[in-house]
Order: sequence, then structure tokens, then C-alpha cells
Amino acid sequence: SRFFAIVPAAGSGSRMGAKRPKQYLELAGRPMLWHALATLTRVSRIERVCVVLSPEDEWWEEFDWQPLAERLQVLRVGGSTRAGSVANALRVLAADLAAEDWVLVHDAARACLTEAQVDGLIEALADDPVGGLLAQPVADTLKRSGADGRVAATVSREAMWQAQTPQMFRLGLLREALQAKPGVTDEAGAVEALGLCPRLIAADATNFKLTYPQDLALAELILRARSE
Ligand code: CTP
Ligand code: MG
Repeated sequence: SRFFAIVPAAGSGSRMGAKRPKQYLELAGRPMLWHALATLTRVSRIERVCVVLSPEDEWWEEFDWQPLAERLQVLRVGGSTRAGSVANALRVLAADLAAEDWVLVHDAARACLTEAQVDGLIEALADDPVGGLLAQPVADTLKRSGADGRVAATVSREAMWQAQTPQMFRLGLLREALQAKPGVTDEAGAVEALGLCPRLIAADATNFKLTYPQDLALAELILRARSE
């Protein structure tokens, strides 16, 4: 079967607090969004990478995407939530993809994704009946807070994972899942709501999501070290 990627990049980056959406901040000499798109377009098994922009996006044209253009499709169908952006993209893609085609959904804000991580995910899941996601076992001790800002309980971190992306499911299943459960924060959550159990594929902390201003320096360091 065939493999496609969807990169939701229609968010506003409110927690980053910059003057423009974080995906257009400069990171190691390129806009943040460049890095994930470049990695995904280098994965030979992925036929096409679809980037989802907000219909009001006024930054995309500022940059030269020509080096990636051959395998890139730009969809200006972003919605008001991440799941909405992905669902809108799936609706467009359903016109020329088959229900059995695999779709890898990846956050534009996970700029440090590597080809090896994507290859590992595809390798592990290509014959899987459900699909799955990259994730990282929780390393810290977890606390549940009480109403007064004090610790109410210590939660065992055993069997706890932090969900990352890409999340890989077949197009038909993912469309059905997101239609049934549009309020989810990741694709796996929607698939779980159908009663299915996505597989966890271990990745590492370098595939973190750039959320706050202090995340920029670490990503810059990782990306620059790789290009040396
Ligand atoms: N995203 C999207 N459409 C939305 C909201 C988010 O395509 N309506 C994308 C973001 O662009 C990002 C990914 O989903 O690549 C993960 O979301 P997040 O890190 O939360 O980004 P933002 O929503 O932009 O940031 P914030 O929550 O701080 O506003
Ligand atoms: Mg958000």
C-alpha cells in the first residue's frame, strides 16, 4: 500500500507568544516548518507530503519552498482545532487516495523529527491491523495536583507514555475516527474511541514539540549539530 504524510501547520502558536505563528519563526536558518517537511519529503516510501495551512495564512509565500516542491502539496484548509485541520485535509485527500492508503500525521512543531524515526514507524506498522504512533516512556515522577496547588497524589509512571507524532493510520479508519470524535488532541485518541488499540512505537526526546520560547534554543542546537 501507499504512504502519505499530512503536516498540520494552521495553528497560531499562542504559547510561543511570538509576533507570527511559531511554524514561521526562524530555526537553524530556515522557517520551523521547513525542517519537518524536509525530513518527510526525504523518506522515499512517502509519496506526497500535504501541508495544511490556515486559509488566512500570510507567511507561507515569504519563503522559498521550491527545493521541496516536487513531493509537496499545499492545502489551505486549516480549521479552528488541530483535529479539524487534519479532518479537512483528509476530506480533500479522500478524492484521490484509497481508504487503505496509510497516512502519517505529523506536527509542524516537531521540527527535529529524523528520517530514521519515520522509517522505524513505517517498518513497525506497515502490516499492523490498526496503526500507531511514536511515543516516549515517561521519565519523571508524576504528581496529580489538588485544588490548592499542593500535591494530591503521586501517580505511577509505569506504563505511561508521552504521545508524539507521526501518528500512522489508514485513511479510511482515520476519517471515520475523526468524524466520530472531533474533539481529540491526537489521531490515536480518535481511533481509541472506536475501541481499537494503536501501537506505541518508542522514540526519543529529540522528537519534542516546540511549544514555549525556551524550546527554540534546544531545537536549534539539535538541528545545527546534525547539519555539521
Ligand atoms: N494546528 C493546526 N490547526 C490548528 C491548531 C494547531 O494545524 N487549528 C497545528 C499546529 O500548527 C502545530 C500542531 O497542530 O503544528 C500542534 O499544535 P500546537 O503545538 O498546539 O500548535 P499551536 O496550536 O499553533 O500552538 P498553541 O497551542 O500554543 O496556540
Ligand atoms: Mg494548540
